[in-house]
Amino acid sequence: MMARFLMLLSVILLSAYLTEQVHFLQPEYIKKLNKEISTWEAGENFPPDTPIEYLKGLLGSHGVEAAAKGPFKTKDYNYNSLHHIPESFDARKKWKRCKTIGVIRDQGNCGSCWAFGTSGAFSDRLCIATDGEFDELLSVEELTFCCHSCGNGCHGGYPIMAWDYFSTNGLVTGGGYDSQQGCLPYYVPPYLDDDVPEERNHRCVEKCYGNTTIDFKEDHRYTSDAYYLTPDSIQEEVLVYGPVEASFKVYNDFFNYKSGVYVKSANATYLGGHAVKLIGWGVENETPYWLLVNSWNENWGDQGTFKIRRGTNECGIDKSMTAGVPVID
Ligand SMILES: *[C@@H]1O[C@H](CO)[C@@H](O)[C@H](O)[C@H]1NC(C)=O
Ligand SMILES: *[C@@H]1O[C@H](CO)[C@@H](O)[C@H](O)[C@H]1NC(C)=O
Repeated sequence: MMARFLMLLSVILLSAYLTEQVHFLQPEYIKKLNKEISTWEAGENFPPDTPIEYLKGLLGSHGVEAAAKGPFKTKDYNYNSLHHIPESFDARKKWKRCKTIGVIRDQGNCGSCWAFGTSGAFSDRLCIATDGEFDELLSVEELTFCCHSCGNGCHGGYPIMAWDYFSTNGLVTGGGYDSQQGCLPYYVPPYLDDDVPEERNHRCVEKCYGNTTIDFKEDHRYTSDAYYLTPDSIQEEVLVYGPVEASFKVYNDFFNYKSGVYVKSANATYLGGHAVKLIGWGVENETPYWLLVNSWNENWGDQGTFKIRRGTNECGIDKSMTAGVPVID
């Protein structure tokens, strides 16, 4: 009786195991991929048994499709102050006082990348505009769960609508999970193993629970506008105002990115739209790249960052960047 039960149990477990195997996370796929690609290197970022639902669930940006509608910003009088565009640029080095620029965060089991990319760039821009006086994270929690016009919280959103929210509603401060930094710290735990369920029924909280001495209403910071960037104004925009949000199409090989300049491999298949924060650019082995900060923890990629080919609209990235100018009082 016991033996039959155990046999049945192992059959069930084995079939669950087999159906869960995501082919592009397996060592054989990564090995094959490394033979094919030339500008970047692949490796294991996720355990091979990570469920596909979790991986797809991280991709919550509708920014690539929405970009066509604009509004676009092309000219800005402040761009005139620039004398030349450097061949390489890293916002972390240019604005050393602004620690938020290089902070690597973790979405957890939630498609809130659109909120990380936008609020992250907004935090950095506020720090730059105040010459380091403001150097805190703004709240991904408020944006993800209180901005109803932005989309669907953990199920994805529109970066342009997030900037719109900053200009009309504003955004409070809020640090990382389990921190008491700022008004509304992120309340979604990091995804450590497959026991953490997908975030559900998260409510919009309109009262500071992190640092409870902060006044919720007064803590809101604003932008004056919300716009897309045309490919030829991206560098000027970053040099004048700081990091921007960037959306792009994620193909399965991207999950295995470790270093170098990412270029989609020939057989990679499309999985969804993702939003990140652009902090610079450069040229590596003659390939121009954008430098970006992801929100998949610092164990992912190049200590949480990655490079992607610049100037060829790789995965739609050159045409799907958004930003806004912070208001300082
Ligand atoms: C991509 O497809 C080609 C043609 O089917 C095949 O030869 C190659 O091995 C594939 N590469 C990978 C990494 O799967
Ligand atoms: C909490 O907020 C107050 C008011 O902004 C600030 O003075 C204080 O340093 C904060 N406390 C912590 C622990 O961050």
